[in-house]
Amino acid sequence: MSVIWTRRGALQAFAAGAGALATPLSLRAQSRASVDLVLRITALPVSLQMRAGQETRGLRYTGEVLQGRHDAFRNVPGNLGPTLELWRGERVRIQVVNRTSEPTVVHWHGMIVPSAADGHPHQAVASGDSYTIAFTVQNPAGTYLYHPHPHGLTGAQTYRGLAGLLIVRDPAERAFGLPPRENELALVLQDRRFTSENQLVFKRSMMDAMNGVLGDTVLVNGVADAAFKVAPRAYRLRIANVSNARIYKLAWSDDRPLRVIGTDGGLFSGSEGIQERPYVTLFPFQRVELLEDFGARRDGAEIALLSRAFAELGGMGGMMGGDMMGSRMMRGTMGPGQGEALQLARFTVSPGARTRVEALHLPPDAPLPRAGRHELHTQLAFQHMRGFLNGRSFDVEDPTAVAQDERLPARQVSVWTFANDGPGMAMPHPMHVHGVQFRILERRGGDAPADLRDGLVDMGWHDTVGIFPGERVRIALEPKLPGLFMYHCHNLEHEDGGMMRNCVFEG
Ligand code: C2O
Ligand code: CU
Ligand code: CU
Repeated sequence: MSVIWTRRGALQAFAAGAGALATPLSLRAQSRASVDLVLRITALPVSLQMRAGQETRGLRYTGEVLQGRHDAFRNVPGNLGPTLELWRGERVRIQVVNRTSEPTVVHWHGMIVPSAADGHPHQAVASGDSYTIAFTVQNPAGTYLYHPHPHGLTGAQTYRGLAGLLIVRDPAERAFGLPPRENELALVLQDRRFTSENQLVFKRSMMDAMNGVLGDTVLVNGVADAAFKVAPRAYRLRIANVSNARIYKLAWSDDRPLRVIGTDGGLFSGSEGIQERPYVTLFPFQRVELLEDFGARRDGAEIALLSRAFAELGGMGGMMGGDMMGSRMMRGTMGPGQGEALQLARFTVSPGARTRVEALHLPPDAPLPRAGRHELHTQLAFQHMRGFLNGRSFDVEDPTAVAQDERLPARQVSVWTFANDGPGMAMPHPMHVHGVQFRILERRGGDAPADLRDGLVDMGWHDTVGIFPGERVRIALEPKLPGLFMYHCHNLEHEDGGMMRNCVFEG
């Protein structure tokens, strides 16, 4: 991993972090009593050495601890925000500073936070401005994210580098028999495309807007050609897909199955146990946790984490003749499309003593919501190059508008059906709901493609679910906090194109 902060990048980051924005006295004074942690996250332009040759211009989050635990942020080497580590139950206050040239706002993806802290597009602040939010960490231990959410700009800002991991820890995890902290690795997957001058290439065509932007290089934790040295032991791997539109078919180069221990909303329960998959299908902004025993490989073994090939899933490539001419021609001119094989990261197993892998003692089941009195139904459609939810798209004129079929009770179970069978172009849509973790009750119709089906992990808690063309997916959700939230397709180009709506948890 050869990414280094250049002097210029470091100076820029320093200047922005330590500059004019001293913490207002009142913020410090009031927070001392009522919160455990006071943090500042700044979004700012940077120039980074990401590949050999010229620096790459982009954006980045930096983090500072103003009060409380000094290990709340962990820097990552590449073009990615620091990892924010919070403990369950902690009371957190965060100042968000916008040093970019555009409006922005930070959304805490997967986190159960009050509506006022959610990072809805109408909460975006102008360049040079800042705002402060507060929440208590309610989520179970797990792997979450933070990323921008200004309407129409989420895709570009995320692509240019604004995103980070948010890990929630819980002292209770110690009893589960999971690998220790030093054998834990987080891998953030992001596909990017660079010019010959090492600059990021975003939307190039109508096709990128329709299918979502795909890259030909996969950055892992913001670094190309990522390589890791691992001990011959069991590891806890947290894998997050933070790509604008790419679906990964995660597999090991030596064909060992993946042992899944958790999803978006944390670890499985004891009865769900470890789920083995030959590969894992991971849609944009989904996360998965694996228990991987590198001790089962010989000393010096080199293995790669891959995304294996799968057939096109509709969209423009499919429409223009699938494999025959359309997509192959396009691949020639545009690089890998959805479903191309890609290498993600290499792992080299260092020699060393092997220890016995401990048995996992995952906690018992949380009561499962299986049915609800309230039913919601949303039809997904993609027409005239835009996505629609029950025929509607995000209303820029009235950004807090909510329709009657977008209201559901807080603190009660509702069942929400997403039917990807609307008029227009058939394509997969990763649907996301803010402010909750939900259960996937069933998939019906449409048939998940045979070359992706075995990689679906539908048990556990989720905030994002991939819905294939023709499918109907039913989810059960029980929002804890009332207020205005959102649901949308998490293909960032679909989201920015308006395939996003408000919902209200009433209570
Ligand atoms: Cu991760 Cu509304 O988004
Ligand atoms: Cu979200
Ligand atoms: Cu979509």
